[in-house]
Amino acid sequence: MKRVLSSVVIAGSVLLGSSVASVAIAQGVAKPDAQKGEQLYTQGDLSRGILSCASCHGEAGNSTIAMNPNLAGQPYEYTVKQLLDFVKPEDGAHAPRRGAGGADSLMTPFATAMTEEDRQNVAYYLSQQALNYDTAPAASNEDTAERGQQIWRGGLPDRRVPACAACHGPAGAGIPGQYPRLAGQFPDYIAEQLRLFRSGERANNAMMTDIADRMTDADIAAVADYAAGLR
Ligand code: HEC
Ligand code: HEC
Repeated sequence: MKRVLSSVVIAGSVLLGSSVASVAIAQGVAKPDAQKGEQLYTQGDLSRGILSCASCHGEAGNSTIAMNPNLAGQPYEYTVKQLLDFVKPEDGAHAPRRGAGGADSLMTPFATAMTEEDRQNVAYYLSQQALNYDTAPAASNEDTAERGQQIWRGGLPDRRVPACAACHGPAGAGIPGQYPRLAGQFPDYIAEQLRLFRSGERANNAMMTDIADRMTDADIAAVADYAAGLR
């Protein structure tokens, strides 16, 4: 595992320079259609059991409910990937991305009912929406701010945890491609995802599992709160 991480981090720095610019619109479907994406996002499609995404994730991806992550401005590729990772493979195995206790994520039925085109259209629409930082969640725990900042900027060298900023951007804005924005996300959601990576219930990224596996609950709480507050 350790070897995987260090080589990936090195590969990551190469990645940042080059391939992230290539938005993968090349998965066999025409250019994504933001208007169709918006329609599915706001209205859902009850004939297929897809509830309105907006009813949980808020207007244009600005969620007001801490349980439901905000989605505005997330990189296109990241969102497409998540919508695929919620889907169970046909051989009956579990989805790469599950919820707490190994249960299906709330998203699994919706993501399963979506076509590849739906995923791309919605992801494209969301990537074009701006997160409203005035109303987005912020950090709330002053006591852990310094610890959170240390981990964000410098990682935990004694446990070989790399700096979060290296991949999620210094201001937590994410990087086009597969690196999600964390700034303005709900701190509880961020912490929950780190715990899910650590437990393997979210098994859709080996790097993140390896990183979370080396963090304590206190580290996770501190860095989640700090990351949410970045602007
Ligand atoms: C009933 C509420 C609900 C509805 C409706 C819903 N979601 Fe979600 N969504 C959630 C929750 C809760 C999570 C966190 C899931 C988890 O951690 O397993 C989530 C997670 C996600 C994620 C992952 C975000 C990230 O940062 O990784 C994406 C993408 C997403 N939803 C897109 C959609 C889209 C697109 C729709 C409409 C087709 C939709 N959701 C409908 C509740 C909902
Ligand atoms: C080597 C690059 C890299 C480093 C370093 C890194 N991340 Fe990540 N992180 C990623 C990638 C790539 C993903 C998307 C994984 C996926 O496809 O689901 C991710 C996903 C996440 C998510 C899920 C976001 C969401 O919306 O669901 C959280 C939370 C997160 N990282 C927190 C952190 C924290 C905190 C640190 C520092 C301790 C960190 N990451 C360091 C690459 C990295």
